[in-house]
Amino acid sequence: MLDPTRPRGPHIIAVANQKGGVGKTTTAINLAAALAERGKKILLVDLDPQGNASTGLGVEPHARRATTYDLLLDDIPVADVIVATTVSGVWLSPATTDLSSADMELVANEKRSFLLYDALHQPALDAWFFDFILIDCPPSLSLLTVNALVAANAVLVPLQAEFFALEGLTQLMLTIREVRQTANTLLRIEGVVLTMYDTRNNLSQQVEADARATLGELVFRTMIPRNVRISEAPSHALPVLAYDSASKGSAAYRALAGELLARHAPVQAERAPR
Ligand SMILES: Nc1ncnc2c1ncn2[C@@H]1O[C@H](COP(=O)(O)OP(=O)(O)OP(=O)(O)O)[C@@H](O)[C@H]1O
Ligand SMILES: [Mg+2]
Repeated sequence: MLDPTRPRGPHIIAVANQKGGVGKTTTAINLAAALAERGKKILLVDLDPQGNASTGLGVEPHARRATTYDLLLDDIPVADVIVATTVSGVWLSPATTDLSSADMELVANEKRSFLLYDALHQPALDAWFFDFILIDCPPSLSLLTVNALVAANAVLVPLQAEFFALEGLTQLMLTIREVRQTANTLLRIEGVVLTMYDTRNNLSQQVEADARATLGELVFRTMIPRNVRISEAPSHALPVLAYDSASKGSAAYRALAGELLARHAPVQAERAPR
């Protein structure tokens, strides 16, 4: 069990959905950038061996000397892992393909579900004064994702507005429930955000209606539209907010950050001023 008496540190959000290509990394990068625009200091933990968040934030493979793998499995100071990104206020724990072997190595580890929790709650991290830690999860319910759910205060679920979107959620919700019953009783659902939404498409509207009917308040009012600028931005190693600040995609991620911060207003106010 985790220690509920610990002082409140940064708010830790796992961006998770075991379905591939639904907008986890895009949401992690752009939400981080939008929160940073509002003066928040963010650590993005790339927990996906694909390393898409690292690439998308301009941290090239050769610059990924120490990585999230080391954070989990090697006893390495967190300061040696965290690097700056192309976005002021957004810092990164980068990932490389070696994370794909971590899953196997974790199985043999007694503390296998708690390694990321321990890494993100080490006292050395306090000196960074992060407001939020966002964890970009891989597209699976593997031990890596379980580590994210155990380490996090809340889960943010990107849901692609397409057929079968909701079916995939059942398995994720069961995993969240299991983690709540065992390792992290305080785990909340931050919210579900509809991604790649196309207002001209009946199917998008149907998925939205179903999601709101089933999940109610958990679904963010903000929806992320399908927007080509969003998909172009990573190849320029930038969030869409920096790549095309006036795009609809940028506006949507700014709105999502605003909605998230509004939901957090009481929590933020409780925290000691810095
Ligand atoms: N709102 C959007 N509009 C247009 N393209 C988008 C949007 N969101 C994401 N994409 C594109 O869709 C693809 C998948 O997005 P992304 O990589 O964020 O998903 P993911 O869930 O992280 O994928 P994986 O499961 O592989 O980690 C990417 O090419 C991305 O650029
Ligand atoms: Mg991804």
